[in-house]
Amino acid sequence: MERLVTEWVNVTRDISIVARESGEVWFHTLSGTKEIADPFEAPMTGVGAAGSTVGLLDGAINLGFAGIEKRLARPDPTIIGYIVALVGAYHTSVDTPRNLRRAASRFNELGRPEVAAYLEERAREETGHDRLALKDLRALGVPGERLVANFVPEGIKPLCKRFDNLCAEDYPIGCIGYSYCLERIAALKQEDDIAKVRAICPDGVDATRFLRSHSSLGSEANHVTETIDFVASLPAKDRIKVVQETYQSSLLLAEGYNHELLKSEAKMLEELQQALGEELPYGHTSSLSRFQERGPQPAACAK
Ligand SMILES: [Fe+2]
Ligand SMILES: [Fe+2]
Repeated sequence: MERLVTEWVNVTRDISIVARESGEVWFHTLSGTKEIADPFEAPMTGVGAAGSTVGLLDGAINLGFAGIEKRLARPDPTIIGYIVALVGAYHTSVDTPRNLRRAASRFNELGRPEVAAYLEERAREETGHDRLALKDLRALGVPGERLVANFVPEGIKPLCKRFDNLCAEDYPIGCIGYSYCLERIAALKQEDDIAKVRAICPDGVDATRFLRSHSSLGSEANHVTETIDFVASLPAKDRIKVVQETYQSSLLLAEGYNHELLKSEAKMLEELQQALGEELPYGHTSSLSRFQERGPQPAACAK
C-alpha cells in the first residue's frame, strides 16, 4: 500500500503547520531542545499531494487570521463601506496581470517554463478585473476613475506593495502564496453575501460585478483548486516558500481589513469626499440602509 504524503512548513519562529494527505492538519510547536528529536524541525524534502498541500495553505491563512481573531471587525455593511471596498478591489487588481507577467518572465529566465506558463495563464485570467470594480463604482453613481486616481485605502497599501515586491524578487515564487491567500478568502463568499450587498445598493442598480466574479459563484473557486494542484506539483523548497508567503500575506490582509473596517462611517465618507472633491450621493442615506443581520467579511477583495 502506498504511504500517505505528510507535508510540513515552519511559518513562525516556533510554529510549523503539519498536514497529511488524508486531510488532517495541525499546528506543531517545535520542541527547541536537542534532547527531544523533532521530526518537523528539518524542512520537508518529499513530494507534495493536493490533500496535504491544501492543508498547509489553508492552515497558513487560519493562523494568520487567528492573531486578530478577537479584534476582527465585523461591522454591518453599508454602501459607504462597500464603495471603499470597491476602491480597494480596484487597487489590488489593477497591476496584477503586469506583475504576474513580470514574475513569469523571470521564471522563463530561470529555466522554469512550467511556473512561467502557470503565471501567464493567471495573468490572462485576471485581466480586466480592475474594470469590473470601476463599472460597479460607476453603477453606484460614483466617478470611479477619479476616485481611484486620488484614493488608496490605507489598509490596502501594504498589500499592493507586498505583491509588487514579491513579483519583482529574483525568485518570485512567493507571489503564488499571496494570490492564493486573496483568492481563497474571496471564494468563501456565497450567494447570500452577494444578495446582502445587492440589498444595500439603490433599487435596480447592479454593482456586484466584481464581487460575483470574486466569490464562490465566479472564477475564484476554480482558481483556488488549480493553484492547490499546481503548488502540490512543485518541489518541496518552492512549496515551503509559497506556504510561508501565504501566512505573511494573511497577516497583512487581516490587519488591512481590520484597519478599514474599524473606521467609522463618517470617517470613510470624509476620506471618499476629500478624494473626490465633492459630496457623495449616499452621505445621508447609508445609515438607513444598514443590514439587519451581521454582514459578511469585507465586501470586495481581489489580488
Ligand atoms: Fe481577480
Ligand atoms: Fe482570481
